[in-house]
Amino acid sequence: MVSRVIPVDSFDLVIFGGTGDLARRKILPALFHRFVAGQMPDGARVIGAARSELTDDEYRDLVREALTEFIPEDRLPDDQLNAFIERMGYVCIDATGEDGWADLKGRMREDVVRAFYFSVSPSLFGALAERLHEHDVAGPNARIVVEKPFGHDLASARSLNATLREHFDEEQIYRIDHYLGKETVQNLMAVRFGNVLFEPLWNSQYVDHIQITVAETVGVGGRGSYYDRSGAMRDMVQNHLMQLFCLIAMEPPSRFEPDAVRDEKLKVIRALEPVQPNEIVRGQYAGDGEPSYRDDVEDPRSRTESFIALKLHLSNWRWAGTPFYLRTGKKLRARTSEIAVVFKDAPHSIFGGETARHRNVLAIRLQPNEGMTLRVTIKEPGPGGMRLVDVPLDMTFADALGPDVEDVPDAYERLVMDVIRGNQTLFMRGDEVEAAWAWTDPVIAAWEARSDVPKPYEPGSAGPEDAAVMMHREGRKWREIKA
Ligand SMILES: NC(=O)c1ccc[n+]([C@@H]2O[C@H](COP(=O)([O-])OP(=O)(O)OC[C@H]3O[C@@H](n4cnc5c(N)ncnc54)[C@H](OP(=O)(O)O)[C@@H]3O)[C@@H](O)[C@H]2O)c1
Repeated sequence: MVSRVIPVDSFDLVIFGGTGDLARRKILPALFHRFVAGQMPDGARVIGAARSELTDDEYRDLVREALTEFIPEDRLPDDQLNAFIERMGYVCIDATGEDGWADLKGRMREDVVRAFYFSVSPSLFGALAERLHEHDVAGPNARIVVEKPFGHDLASARSLNATLREHFDEEQIYRIDHYLGKETVQNLMAVRFGNVLFEPLWNSQYVDHIQITVAETVGVGGRGSYYDRSGAMRDMVQNHLMQLFCLIAMEPPSRFEPDAVRDEKLKVIRALEPVQPNEIVRGQYAGDGEPSYRDDVEDPRSRTESFIALKLHLSNWRWAGTPFYLRTGKKLRARTSEIAVVFKDAPHSIFGGETARHRNVLAIRLQPNEGMTLRVTIKEPGPGGMRLVDVPLDMTFADALGPDVEDVPDAYERLVMDVIRGNQTLFMRGDEVEAAWAWTDPVIAAWEARSDVPKPYEPGSAGPEDAAVMMHREGRKWREIKA
């Protein structure tokens, strides 16, 4: 299966923070892959910008090095690499200073898409927006791309939105949540709204509960000081898990168009009920023989959670009575992201009570081995009477769609090209981000007002025992965390 490549208009893309980790690891490799796919039309260029004093050629060397480090050799043919590097340029700019802007303006071409990727600390977003405007670099149709974190709480997110909107319209602002660029996340919408099979069952009448798990095996590592001010709730739940939750829970939008989709997601967040204290479990990894969370963040008294599990309720007709369980954490047993829709028992068992123990489960794996499994009940083969057994109908996308699917574009490839195309469907709107913070803030405030500490859990486990107890209390069970 060869993927269809949609042509894009020519563009000038400026990456502020073009020498940083994200640019080197994600944005530049993504652009290279799109270049190879034929999506960088003649003249399309990428201009790095940062404080380091580099010439164009020195920046090209940096890009070459980054691509060599982050792209496997067999996907980096010399001729393509050289041709791509030719499209690179560099301007030395301090976001908070006035130098370099005239140079940047001089490099901008008329009549092409102008996009500015803010791959710098969020504290610089305002300064960049202001200077792009003051130095007349942006032009009337420019697009700006802003990275996470978008705010630390509702007040800071509002203030950031207000600053950006002083100089750019909402239609020009692309707030990245890279989860939305993942192929399988978009597949969630295809599965829900492209098949007649699931939607009639997608409600509290048939669904017992839904689990969303994003598990990581890494600890906080070198990001300790940032992470300790954030924690799993801010770093993962408020954005990534909330987005997955919205896509699962939302009503069908009338069209797959930016505001139609984002309106529906917003309604979901607004229908969320406050979380009860006994429906939330926080944890911190702490085991024998390896550094604990508190070692990693160098604060022996830190109360920041590296694991969180919580139960959400939606007050709307579709989902009243069906809980959503979300969990995410560091240093867990396996790196996996999965959404599982657990259906209710069959209403009546004609097999003498046996079917009641067999539940259909639709599991959508975001990583690794992207795909879907539907667990169905069948008769166990053999002469032993009507014995029932659960079997998975397994569809790994790589098997079902052929070997090319292994080259599924990285989320950043899709998202950067959507910016160039002017398609905001997979980007968060300002009101959506604010609504997510408005729900998150009281949960965090309630925790901060308490004196207890997160529950310890063994690195390599499934999280603290209390998370299992929370489910058990309700006669349910977390799905196993496995790669
Ligand atoms: N890295 C990731 O995996 C990741 C993931 C998600 C989100 N993000 C977000 O992406 C953004 C960038 O992260 P990063 O990891 O790439 O950070 P980083 O490695 O620290 O890079 C920061 C970049 O900003 C430049 N910079 C710093 N101060 C500047 C200034 N005053 N004016 C102009 N440029 C300046 C730096 O270059 P100079 O020092 O030469 O100026 C560098 O290119 C952050 O908002 C981060 O939260 C990163």
